[in-house]
Amino acid sequence: MSQTMLESYIEKMVRQAVTSSLSNQLVTNEKIKPIVVANWKMNMNLDSISEFVYDFSKTNVPVDVVICPPAPYLYVLNGWQIKLNALFSIGAQNVHSESKGAFTGDVSAEQLVDVGCEYVIIGHSERRAIGETNSFIHQKVKHALNTGLIPILCVGESEEERKQQKTNVVVEEQILSALQNIQDISRVIIAYEPVWAIGTGQSAAPEQAQEVHHFIRSVLSKHFGVTAGRTPILYGGSAKPENAKEFSAMADINGLLVGGASLKAGDFSKIIQAFC
Ligand code: PGA
Repeated sequence: MSQTMLESYIEKMVRQAVTSSLSNQLVTNEKIKPIVVANWKMNMNLDSISEFVYDFSKTNVPVDVVICPPAPYLYVLNGWQIKLNALFSIGAQNVHSESKGAFTGDVSAEQLVDVGCEYVIIGHSERRAIGETNSFIHQKVKHALNTGLIPILCVGESEEERKQQKTNVVVEEQILSALQNIQDISRVIIAYEPVWAIGTGQSAAPEQAQEVHHFIRSVLSKHFGVTAGRTPILYGGSAKPENAKEFSAMADINGLLVGGASLKAGDFSKIIQAFC
């Protein structure tokens, strides 16, 4: 090996060692800022949104809050968001994988950005239940990222799958197929939402959720390296003021995706306070 080759080899090794040590520090030391997301589903109208926003404006919001209203109200909420000095961000509940075209009833990522959206929920079990496949979900995630939206990718097992001890297999498959060939997942949020806990009033036990969140982090770590330590992993499924604090105490739970309990500003605020 010539002197120059040796020097450049040593330089490369030193650079790799420094990068790897910095990366490890990022994984272990960096604290992920909590995110609490409201998924209003097909609820609310102009009156109840005004009421919500009026009440919510009194809330102290030290964490990132995202509100996902039904599509017709995105622009209205964008107006409120500007008036309230970005007290919350806006997310959509769904998006198509194409930019435009003959897709009756669908909305594109570009249109969502146009009305002030920064986030989008993708792969919610209520959409998977009406036929959304892993491959369509992958196309949506890819397009959302390319358009500048932050995807909140929902994964989770059914009751039957949990009984058959397939939780990890299902969740891993959903994550890997949605994120395949995506090199940089630094702008992706994962939401673990066990299907049996959604809208049932019966949430997962915080320790049970933590176990799956920890598994999700290990899957991300194996396939996406250092970014895994910084990926927010939210829990969703009957989260409410009464259990939010316990979820917030879990090491790998970085926030909540809240359905029913996000419709009243008072309840939603209490959930947010649990993460302060
Ligand atoms: P839930 O819904 O809080 O009403 O269970 C959560 C969700 O579906 O995102």
